[in-house]
Amino acid sequence: MKTWIRWAVINGLPGVVLRAQARRGNPLAQYLTDPAAREDPYPFGDRIRARGRLVAIPYSYVTADYELCRTVLRHKDFGVTPPEAFTVFKPVQRLIKATDLKIASPVEPPAMLMVDPPVHTRYRKLVAQAFTPRAVARLRDRISEVTTDLLDDLAQHENADLIEQFALLLPIAIISEILGIPAEKRDDLLDAGHAGSPLLDIGISWKTFRTANDALREAQDYLVEHIAELRANPGDNILSDLATGGELTDTELLYSAALIAGAGFETTVNLIGNGIMALHQHPEQLDLLRAEPARWPGAVEEILRYDSPVQMTARTALRDIEIAGVRIAKGEMVALLLGCANRDPKMFDNPNVFDVTRANAREHLSFSSGVHACLGASLARMEGAVALQALYDRFPNLRVADAPQRRGLLNLRGFQHIPVSTGVGARVAAG
Ligand code: HEM
Repeated sequence: MKTWIRWAVINGLPGVVLRAQARRGNPLAQYLTDPAAREDPYPFGDRIRARGRLVAIPYSYVTADYELCRTVLRHKDFGVTPPEAFTVFKPVQRLIKATDLKIASPVEPPAMLMVDPPVHTRYRKLVAQAFTPRAVARLRDRISEVTTDLLDDLAQHENADLIEQFALLLPIAIISEILGIPAEKRDDLLDAGHAGSPLLDIGISWKTFRTANDALREAQDYLVEHIAELRANPGDNILSDLATGGELTDTELLYSAALIAGAGFETTVNLIGNGIMALHQHPEQLDLLRAEPARWPGAVEEILRYDSPVQMTARTALRDIEIAGVRIAKGEMVALLLGCANRDPKMFDNPNVFDVTRANAREHLSFSSGVHACLGASLARMEGAVALQALYDRFPNLRVADAPQRRGLLNLRGFQHIPVSTGVGARVAAG
């Protein structure tokens, strides 16, 4: 019953209101509810920018303006937006708090993503040590090794699904190793990540919400056991260090592990998948990369800018504040359309053109900005560059064989399946 009430207040009711608001022309509601936005969100961003840098909608605001998104993300007077901040009505906020399911969800406090400084600062400092560019550089060989193994497996198939057989398997292998999670548990982790991902969207169905929470509860039971085991027998991994360091409470540790586990693969799979599709649609860009492989890291930045794996976030005003000439009251929310902001022509020339040589591609907001800027950015960049370059080196005749299928989520933007012909059959025949 508690789960249903929570679904009703944070998804069921908002879904009904959003659909009504969309019909009345609310541009954020249209973005959130129109199935066309799941196919192609960028025209929605263009329309929002056409209405202004910061567009007022009932009780909140939306922006697809690059500069403004960055300003809000870096502003000390804006804080995170936990579920209760989606409404300004106090009784509803109380109901949301009262129905806290106490499930280690990446989008609920005390997950790092959902707490403000100074709590966030303490928390982040501890976890960040494991993800510095230097720490990640040490993972390069392991990332290459796993990639080679996966490509060896792919080479056994003339037809394959590049999401299920490649793009998903690399980040899940690496993040599992970082967390000391054994290989035989990876499928469970995958199932939990897939079931939990829709929680980043708004207005999801009761069935999806219930399945997501059941899956996260199961993952939580496992993580509690796993952390206890690491405390007793620490391994050479970050979760063991955090578990034995004694600086995070059990709850903080659990929520950190759940966030890192989910964020570690549910996003990077989309970087790799979106990259494969962008290169498929722009073969001349792939030719350029083949001629000049040193451009791969730049190409990864352009893939992130062109089709961001995370499309949006939100911030809530911590006090009354004026921004872009608009007065925002304490407690009001600003929806930040990161993916659409990456297509802002004021920042990126010809923003709808995919250009792996774009000089300022790295300025994208796909990893957010400010204190919550993605902790795994270096890792994701490295996985993306290693995976994509190795894939195209290994399979020069790779081609997308059938219509790819999108995941159907709004915030986590990516593909469920990318069926390809690896070209190995043709090579064997030719040889
Ligand atoms: C292409 C891949 C990735 C993308 C696009 C991405 C995107 C993001 C974004 C947009 C945020 C901030 C959201 C906000 O400001 O509200 C974020 C935060 C975070 N990401 Fe990533 N991420 C990726 C990969 C990863 C990986 C591989 C890890 C883990 C190893 C990771 C761990 C985190 C964590 C822990 C946070 C929370 C940081 C904080 O609140 O201080 N991410 N990510």
